Amino acid sequence: MKGSAVATALTLGASTVLAAPSIQARDDVTAITVKGNAFFKGDDRFYIRGVDYQPGGSSKLADPIADADGCKRDIKKFTELGLNTIRVYSVDNSQDHDECMNALADAGIYLVLDVNTPKYSLNRADPAPSYNDVYLQYIFATIDKFANYKNTLAFFSGNEVINDGPSSKAAPYVKAVTRDLRQYIRSRNYREIPVGYSAADIDTNRLQMAEYMNCGTDDERSDFFAFNDYSWCDPSSFTTSGWDQKVKNFTGYGLPLFLSEYGCNTNKREFEEVSALYNTEMTGVYSGGLVYEYSQEASDYGLVEISGNDVKTLADYDALKSAFSKTSNPQGDGGYNKTGGANPCPAKDSPNWDVDGDSLPAIPEPAKKYMTQGAGKAPGFSGSGSMNAGTASTSTATPGSGSATSSSSSSGSGSSGTSTGSAGAAAGLQAPALTMTPVLVGLVTVLSTMFGAGLILV
Ligand SMILES: *[C@@H]1O[C@H](CO)[C@@H](O)[C@H](O)[C@H]1NC(C)=O
Ligand SMILES: *[C@@H]1O[C@H](CO)[C@@H](O)[C@H](O)[C@H]1NC(C)=O
Repeated sequence: MKGSAVATALTLGASTVLAAPSIQARDDVTAITVKGNAFFKGDDRFYIRGVDYQPGGSSKLADPIADADGCKRDIKKFTELGLNTIRVYSVDNSQDHDECMNALADAGIYLVLDVNTPKYSLNRADPAPSYNDVYLQYIFATIDKFANYKNTLAFFSGNEVINDGPSSKAAPYVKAVTRDLRQYIRSRNYREIPVGYSAADIDTNRLQMAEYMNCGTDDERSDFFAFNDYSWCDPSSFTTSGWDQKVKNFTGYGLPLFLSEYGCNTNKREFEEVSALYNTEMTGVYSGGLVYEYSQEASDYGLVEISGNDVKTLADYDALKSAFSKTSNPQGDGGYNKTGGANPCPAKDSPNWDVDGDSLPAIPEPAKKYMTQGAGKAPGFSGSGSMNAGTASTSTATPGSGSATSSSSSSGSGSSGTSTGSAGAAAGLQAPALTMTPVLVGLVTVLSTMFGAGLILV
């Protein structure tokens, strides 16, 4: 049903796009960067005010960014809600996304994108064979498609791969994928787009997973961490919901943190948590979040009901709109932690945290070439999948092995260092990076290694 609509939209999209200005050249879009434990838009703190956008629901595979008409229909509502970000769970990397991304940029809206699809993802029950070169090729090709949009805010390397204690065994693979994506972005000289993981709403190992993703060598750490949270069920409060504890427990965490899904629907939703999330009681540690979810699906979390070209707003839509409109961001920088940086790896504590140490699988041998050659062709949703394909990892990585390899194609245009390394203080280093000639890249590599932070161009 949806397929034909998408195809039409794409045909129309393709012809319009030729005339449209190239999105990467848009000077009016400011890319989001990481400083300390926060996001920034230029010199201003950036808080995610977003929704999760998956019309059709989690069980139906669709790419809403390739559906230009649907996207434009919904942008009107995003704007009315006062959003600055949407999250999309899967995209077909063989399709064109210019028209929707351009329209989102016009509306001041950024995209947080999950790079995985059901056919190209890690298998939590048996992660080793699923971490292979065919899988990496797909997700690298997705990076190629989205890296040049300045309103691509961030990539999720995984979503709820770990959903209980025992599945924490898969954590080294999640972390290896995150490392590889970050290395790919640097090796291909793209803008340094933040990469991180979206964790399930589970108390037993949320903190360990967050710490795990931010321990070890700089190439192995994430740029941010996010988790899904349904613990605030109206009527509630900062303390009743336990959000006060989630601030306390994450105080001192060195990466930007946000809620990748929130909005408990047990009772009537008033979205009272919005006033807590953008209040200084939380903004020293959290950078906003994404409400689950835009469209009404079987799970009953929707803000609107979509039927064809019509969008009917529901009671939850009005409640959220009202909550956003009466909640402004804190003055100044919201009390963020300018230092940021790594933490020690969590200790093994099975069955809740069944990971010993922090050694990671090395990148599968045949995937190494993508770092220098690029990923090439994008298989899209119709690709044959990666679960049991390709070649798996055969060895353990040497810490630091995920540093980017020098790319001969460096134009100095995209590889400004931000949040890698010791995460903090990097924004000031971007300007020199932009003017760098390829000849200087080697020197900068050495300097950045010496100074630790920021300028990771290796
Ligand atoms: C906070 O940390 C304490 C101590 O580690 C733990 O018992 C508690 O469950 C955590 N609370 C939340 C909400 O994560
Ligand atoms: C800021 O972050 C650093 C590094 O994670 C941490 O050591 C320090 O305690 C944090 N400061 C505050 C006030 O949270």
